[in-house]
Amino acid sequence: MPAVKDLGDDTVHVYLNGKFVAEENAMISIDDRGFLFADGVYEVVHVYGRTLFEWDLHMARLQRSVAAVELPPVDLVSLRHVAEELVSRLDASESEASLYLEITRGTHRRSHGFPPAGSTEPTVLMWVRPVVPISRPTIEDGVPMISVADDRWAKVWIKTIGLLPNVLAKHKAQQAGMFDAIFIRDGMVTEATSANIFIVESGTLHTAPTTNYILPGITRQVVLELAAARGIAIDLTPFSYESLLDADEAFLTGTLTEVLPISEVDGHRLRHTSGPIARQLLEDLHRRAGWPGSL
Ligand code: PDD
Repeated sequence: MPAVKDLGDDTVHVYLNGKFVAEENAMISIDDRGFLFADGVYEVVHVYGRTLFEWDLHMARLQRSVAAVELPPVDLVSLRHVAEELVSRLDASESEASLYLEITRGTHRRSHGFPPAGSTEPTVLMWVRPVVPISRPTIEDGVPMISVADDRWAKVWIKTIGLLPNVLAKHKAQQAGMFDAIFIRDGMVTEATSANIFIVESGTLHTAPTTNYILPGITRQVVLELAAARGIAIDLTPFSYESLLDADEAFLTGTLTEVLPISEVDGHRLRHTSGPIARQLLEDLHRRAGWPGSL
């Protein structure tokens, strides 16, 4: 990974290949393999009041993704330095932000095989942008979902930038006036387009196990720890579409989604449209982030 060459203008929230640049000057080549082949990986980190939430867990997952697609190892010290520099450039009023990090196999004339060794450096992009927190009424009402067939590839556990199935599923949900789509594989619930899914049945929390068919969410992991700390029973065996419909409550977890209650699935209202365990876990998550809750 290139060293940081230029600290640039301190209003700039974009880093590209060793430089902090104004957004309009952040240019990617037409030969970038991320653009041509989705040949790259990414991470999204929630920034709460300039603190990078669970940075080490995100970096550990990034390293697994990088190794899985045979990119060169990343320099975590340099990435942390860049991240802190970008976050320090946020306005004081920008209290919550998202940090996006993408690494592609670099720029080379289009050819499916990897570029010859030494012919290109990975493209490294990072930006930080303010986010509007999910509103209190949305949390109180829960969000409506549809289900779709999970026709993604068998390496969903790698956080690659190849997200077209997720994009199409989200679009289908939005076309139907719904918030998001839930992927169903062989009758079992895997996850949503950019979040994991939990259900609560008779006080027990269920979420899909970490197989190759889900993205092992950092928020999922944190929520499991928070639930265990509360003494909530946890079951990590696959659960079916029918048990989702029959659940006492269901919710999404994700870096920007946090813990978000689900109100209905395919027009079927859940017993609790914004359940007590989801709200409790959202509060715990905010406490862990050192953040005033939205409830
Ligand atoms: N998405 N499942 C999928 C398919 C995801 O894309 C994500 C995250 C998650 C939740 O993972 P985490 O808790 O680590 O954010 C689950 C990010 C936020 C995105 O694509 O924007």
